[in-house]
Amino acid sequence: MRNTPAVRSLVSIEQLGRSDFEAIFSAARSYRAKLAQGGRLREISGKIVATVFLQPSTRTRLSFEAAALRLGGEVLSLSDPSASRAGSEWRESLADTARVLDGYADVVVVRHPAVGAATYFAEASGIPVVNAGDGAGPGSEHPTQTLIDLFTIDDLCGSPDGATICLVGDLSQRCVHSLLTGLCAFSDVSVLARTEDETRLTGEEHDRLAARGLRLRYIDDVREALRESDIVYACGHEDPAHEVPEGMRIGPEVLRSANPGIRVLHPLPRGPELPPSVDASPAAAYFEQAGNGVPVRMAVLERILAPGARDAPVPCGPAAAVPPA
Ligand code: CP
Repeated sequence: MRNTPAVRSLVSIEQLGRSDFEAIFSAARSYRAKLAQGGRLREISGKIVATVFLQPSTRTRLSFEAAALRLGGEVLSLSDPSASRAGSEWRESLADTARVLDGYADVVVVRHPAVGAATYFAEASGIPVVNAGDGAGPGSEHPTQTLIDLFTIDDLCGSPDGATICLVGDLSQRCVHSLLTGLCAFSDVSVLARTEDETRLTGEEHDRLAARGLRLRYIDDVREALRESDIVYACGHEDPAHEVPEGMRIGPEVLRSANPGIRVLHPLPRGPELPPSVDASPAAAYFEQAGNGVPVRMAVLERILAPGARDAPVPCGPAAAVPPA
């Protein structure tokens, strides 16, 4: 494997600190305003963004592609794993795939079912790599989803600082791991978590977050927690066939007794934990959150690709010890 440091890759939310979050929020706000005015942007004109999705996606792939196009860039897309050599019975190695793409694009956005795949890809790549979600369980990450989540909380609450967030669902998911780590960059954040026993964080993860100052407490009664929460972040279950317990469903009746200013977030796609009957509620903010995907990912691409852009905030992520299966 080539030993080229992928110095501008974003593979883990751990790579970003408070000042990076604030710079990305500011750029995303500026892009959102420009998009609303219908402006034509050229920040990454002449650059090619490759999206390599070896696992399904609607929002992440399409919003990255929209972000690239809105910035004047071009897109190469691999969205059907079985139509690629990496995802077909050929099982071409990720390292070979990464080396080949070096010659085709300027940045690669990768989604893969294995934890560590994006880091492994970045280590083999001579061009920047963005992790669009790798695996599930400890060590899994979805850093740009977290940028969107934190940006949306910043919009809704003024800042994640001081926020009380009720987190309901399967905590083993990659979006949750990255979100909890990202929240550690802010002060005085409380997380009230309702999950099933088998989807709690590991003791090691819990201790790591606590050592960074995140207050995370498990709760049983979501209704009671929502009375003191600013945000309820419903995240459902990794397995769409999982039977979500009644006490973990965020329906209109649960919201009726909540803090009147509460807002509901969800990374989507949703399951029975968030019925469409909530959509008409003023608390619903999850489509707004999904919409923030384009300006936030524009900010990420611009920081990585634009000529003369600020120094990218992102050194290469932690080493991947083994090639993902
Ligand atoms: N939230 C999210 O990652 O959605 P997709 O799986 O549709 O990309």
